[in-house]
Amino acid sequence: QPVQLWGGRFSSGPAEAMAKLSSSTHFDWVLAPYDIAGSRAHARVLHRAGLLSAAELDGMLSALDTLAADVASGTFTPTLADEDVHTALERGLLERAGAELGGKLRAGRSRNDQVATLFRMWLRDAARRITELCLDVVDALLAQADAHPDAVMPGRTHLQHAQPVLLAHHLQAHAQAISRDVERLRDWDRRAAVSPYGSGALAGSSLGLDPAAVAADLGFDAPAENSIDGTAARDFAAEIAFALAMLGVNLSRVAEEVIIWVTAEFSYAELDDAWATGSSIMPQKKNPDVAELARGKSGKLIGNVSGLLATLKAQPLAYNRDLQEDKEPVFDSVAHLELLLPAMAGMLGTLRFRTDRMASLAPAGFTLATDIAEWLVREQVPFRVAHEAAGECVQRAEARGIGLDELTDAELAEVHPALTPRVREVLTVAGSIASRNAYGGTAPDRVAEQRDRLRARVAEH
Ligand code: ARG
Repeated sequence: QPVQLWGGRFSSGPAEAMAKLSSSTHFDWVLAPYDIAGSRAHARVLHRAGLLSAAELDGMLSALDTLAADVASGTFTPTLADEDVHTALERGLLERAGAELGGKLRAGRSRNDQVATLFRMWLRDAARRITELCLDVVDALLAQADAHPDAVMPGRTHLQHAQPVLLAHHLQAHAQAISRDVERLRDWDRRAAVSPYGSGALAGSSLGLDPAAVAADLGFDAPAENSIDGTAARDFAAEIAFALAMLGVNLSRVAEEVIIWVTAEFSYAELDDAWATGSSIMPQKKNPDVAELARGKSGKLIGNVSGLLATLKAQPLAYNRDLQEDKEPVFDSVAHLELLLPAMAGMLGTLRFRTDRMASLAPAGFTLATDIAEWLVREQVPFRVAHEAAGECVQRAEARGIGLDELTDAELAEVHPALTPRVREVLTVAGSIASRNAYGGTAPDRVAEQRDRLRARVAEH
C-alpha cells in the first residue's frame, strides 16, 4: 500500500517519470536510523505538549523500535513508490502502529526540518569516523618519525635541493597539515551541532512543541535560532565538503612525494608489498597505486565541494527541492575518504626508507651554502657580503666537481678572509641541522619537541 504524504489536493498520482525524478531513497536511505531517532524525540515532545497520551507514546515508541529493527535487518526496505526516506518510514510506521496512531506523528514537523536535522546527524557521525581515520594517518607518520629520529634528507624548494633537514621534520610537516584537518572537523562540529527540528516547513510550529528538548534528545547543543534558516541553510554541508576536500588535497601532497620517492631515480623509499600493486605485463613493476588513488580522489573531493556550492548559489529562502541534491556529493566525499585513509595509514606506516641514500644526497647540490653565509654573519660579516662569498664557494666547488667541504683552507681564505677552517663545523649535514635550533627548526631536539606537542594537540579534545 503506497503512502503519499501530500495526496489530499491531488486527483491523480505522479506520472512515472515524475516519480522517478523525485525519488531519493537510493541515496537517502542511509538516513533511516537517524530519521527514526528523530521520530522518537518528536513523539516525546508531542506527548509533553499533550498531543499524545502516555499509552499512545508507548505504542508509538514500540512501533518505532520494531521499525528500527526491521530496517536494521533489511526486512523493511524502501519501494519505488516511496518518494524519499521519510515517506518510506512513514509507511513503515503506519504498517506497524496502525493508521490511527501512526498518523499522529507527523503533527508539527515537516520533511524540511527533518531532513536538515538528519543530514547534520549523519555528517556529525561521519566527521567523527573521518577524524579517527585521520589520526591513524598522523600516527603512522609520527611512528616513522620516531623510528628515524636522526635520518637526514635534502630539503627542497621548487623541488630543487635547498637545505638538509631531518626526515622526521619533513614527515611531521605532513602530520601538521593533517592535524589541522582534524581540528577543522572538530571545529565544524561545534557549528553543526544545531538542530533544525521544530522549524517545521519554514515558519516554526504552532503546537507548543519544544525544539530545545528535541535538540538535546538528538545530541545537539541547541535548536536552530531561526526556523527559516534552520530549513534552508546548507553551509554546514558545504563547510564539511571543504574540510574533506582540504584533507584530500593534503593527502595528495604526501601521496605525490611517495610517488616520487619510490622512483628508481630517487630511491628514497620502498613500498611494502601489501600496499603496492604489480603490472599485468611488466613482471618487475611495483606501483604506488594507493598514493596515485589519493592524488586522483582529491580531484573528486574538490569537485564535490564546488558542485555543492553551485547547487546552493542563489537559491531563494527557504526550502527548495534543489536542496535534495545536497547529500550525494558529501556522502561521496565521506565514502572515498573512508576507503582512502586506512590505505594511506597502511602505506605510510610500512614505507621502508633508504636512509643511507637520503643521507648521501643530503649535501648534494651545495645544500650547505646557506650555512657558510650564516656562519659568516655570526662572524659579523654583513649578510650581503656573506651571501656573495658563499656563492663564490659554490662556483669554485662546482667548477672543480667537488663538494663545499672539499674546498681547501687556502681556497676558503681566498674567497673571504673571515672564512677560517672553523667554518667546517657547519660544513657537514649534521652540523648544519644541529645549528637550526630555533623554535620549529630542524635540529633533532626541536623536531622531537614538535612531535610531542603535535601528539598532545591531537589528543586533547
Ligand atoms: N527528500 C527531500 C530532501 O532531501 C526532503 C523532502 C522535502 N520535500 C518537499 N517537497 N518539501 O531535501
